[in-house]
Amino acid sequence: MYATKNVRPRSSLSTDDNHRIKDTNRPHKAPGNTILTLVAFCVFLLVLCGFLLGALVYVGKNIADEHQRQQAANSTQAALNGTIRTVYVDRDQLLSTKPILSVFSDNRAPTTTQVPSNTKSRAMSTVAPAIRAASKVLQKLGYRLPKEMKPSKYKLQLRPDLNQKNYTGNISISLEVLEPIAFIPVHVKQLNVSTVDVQHLDESGAPLKSVTPTLTFSYPEFEYWVTEFEKPLDVGNYTLRLNFNGSLTDRITGLYQSSYWDKLKNRN
Ligand SMILES: *[C@@H]1O[C@H](CO)[C@@H](O)[C@H](O)[C@H]1NC(C)=O
Ligand SMILES: *[C@@H]1O[C@H](CO)[C@@H](O)[C@H](O)[C@H]1NC(C)=O
Ligand SMILES: *[C@@H]1O[C@H](CO)[C@@H](O)[C@H](O)[C@H]1NC(C)=O
Ligand SMILES: *[C@@H]1O[C@H](CO)[C@@H](O)[C@H](O)[C@H]1NC(C)=O
Ligand SMILES: *[C@@H]1O[C@H](CO)[C@@H](O)[C@H](O)[C@H]1NC(C)=O
Ligand SMILES: *[C@@H]1O[C@H](CO)[C@@H](O)[C@H](O)[C@H]1NC(C)=O
Ligand SMILES: *[C@@H]1O[C@H](CO)[C@@H](O)[C@H](O)[C@H]1NC(C)=O
Repeated sequence: MYATKNVRPRSSLSTDDNHRIKDTNRPHKAPGNTILTLVAFCVFLLVLCGFLLGALVYVGKNIADEHQRQQAANSTQAALNGTIRTVYVDRDQLLSTKPILSVFSDNRAPTTTQVPSNTKSRAMSTVAPAIRAASKVLQKLGYRLPKEMKPSKYKLQLRPDLNQKNYTGNISISLEVLEPIAFIPVHVKQLNVSTVDVQHLDESGAPLKSVTPTLTFSYPEFEYWVTEFEKPLDVGNYTLRLNFNGSLTDRITGLYQSSYWDKLKNRN
């Protein structure tokens, strides 16, 4: 073992020094000192072996950990890829100051997703002139959702495609109209949205009749998707269903896909 050459001096030097001093005085004690040197050397070798063993165990453990991490990453990828996620959000979570959505996968094992807050200054884009002309509710839009309605439940499905790096999804929003209102705004950001339908529900929560929107448009100033009606909606319970799609890679907003460079492994 090459290491013994380097380290030998430490334990054997002191003995050697002794040796030399004692050599001049009592040369006949030399055999005992040689045994001492050998014992010290053996102890040193033992310690060295201990260190090497420790190092081996450490490296082995790291390899095992890395393997586990990879497996976990692989199974996460496989689980996310192409499967439909269902998200249930209740009103308390919406009103909570912490922007956290509880996400239940299809097998109901809860995970948590941090929703980035939309505090960035808004792009001062304007709606298309056609919308400006057609809409009867534009001037009624503000930053906050109107007090005439109260959303109670969101059922969200997401289908990410990790290969195409985009996703589709749909959402069914249960809401209660407290006072007649002719539009439903929902917050969206960097999404392609379309309104599927709006159902007026009866007392029991069953669909009563479908309400046809007259205009749907996105309103980027306030990050809204607006579903507008000819006449104000009657007081009562409704469900609004939307389809949407978006990119996983455009930016770090909402649902996104990201990777990082592992400097140690020199790979993604
Ligand atoms: C993870 O997937 C990659 C290819 O996508 C594969 O090379 C690797 O062996 C997998 N790792 C494990 C631990 O299954
Ligand atoms: C994701 O799903 C597609 C098919 O939907 C499949 O071709 C691809 O190999 C999957 N990718 C991963 C990383 O599992
Ligand atoms: C995702 O990207 C692929 C390839 O660019 C495209 O064909 C597909 O329509 C996109 N899907 C969505 C939901 O945007
Ligand atoms: C949208 O919702 C329907 C159920 O209403 C579901 O069958 C479909 O898979 C969903 N699509 C996506 C992209 O999540
Ligand atoms: C994405 O959404 C837009 C707007 O709803 C829609 O026109 C388009 O067909 C969607 N694309 C896909 C691939 O679903
Ligand atoms: C709307 O639903 C709520 C429960 O979410 C219920 O308390 C209320 O009575 C319903 N209103 C109508 C008009 O059905
Ligand atoms: C909307 O869809 C189009 C094509 O379907 C796509 O090119 C565009 O990136 C999508 N917009 C967003 C914000 O994902």
